[in-house]
Amino acid sequence: MEFFIDTGDLEEIKTAYEWGIIDGVTTNPSLVAKAGIDQKTLITSISEIVDGPISAEVISSDAKGMLEEAYELAKIHENVVIKLPMTKDGMIACKQLSKDDIKTNVTLVFSANQALLAAKNGATYVSPFVGRLDDIGQTGMALIAEIRDIFDNYGYATKILAASIRHCDHVKASALMASDVATVPFKVLEQLFHHPLTKIGLDKFMADHQNAKK
Ligand code: E4P
Repeated sequence: MEFFIDTGDLEEIKTAYEWGIIDGVTTNPSLVAKAGIDQKTLITSISEIVDGPISAEVISSDAKGMLEEAYELAKIHENVVIKLPMTKDGMIACKQLSKDDIKTNVTLVFSANQALLAAKNGATYVSPFVGRLDDIGQTGMALIAEIRDIFDNYGYATKILAASIRHCDHVKASALMASDVATVPFKVLEQLFHHPLTKIGLDKFMADHQNAKK
């Protein structure tokens, strides 16, 4: 499974990329606003750090506006992936960008049918938001399993990008359900390294090593 980091924080991206586990980056308008710089500057800076797909989201609500934004964003770097909302206009833009050979990530996917529509229109990625489904009392991970079955039934090449990941169990479940990618916040990426027995074991090895030297 590929790991993307879900952030607009350049320090977080640099740190996680150095760990060697990051294959790409996802941003959204909220993350760009949090970063406090304009989207073009942010995406350019990310492309100087990470050699992999970088999702940049459009903010227009009509297909024409989305496409104008998409063509400008795509000029920033060949790794830019255009993030489009799961709306009718988003799907019109998705179909056109697919014809133009520009990569897309259809976001705000909350049902298997929405994922199916995005795949039909040639989306490169679909982003089911598992955490936000959990927030309203549904089981977000069940959606990943449904989309996996549907895409496999028909051989769609669209990649499943598990998004709105909130904790380590979401990451493990994404991998068990054969999600192609999980986009993970920095805090959760850090938590993935830890296990209490690793720490206890390492402390014991170091203590034994020090004692043996005496
Ligand atoms: C990813 O592409 C999404 O923008 C992101 O995972 C949303 O996560 P949130 O529900 O924690 O805001």
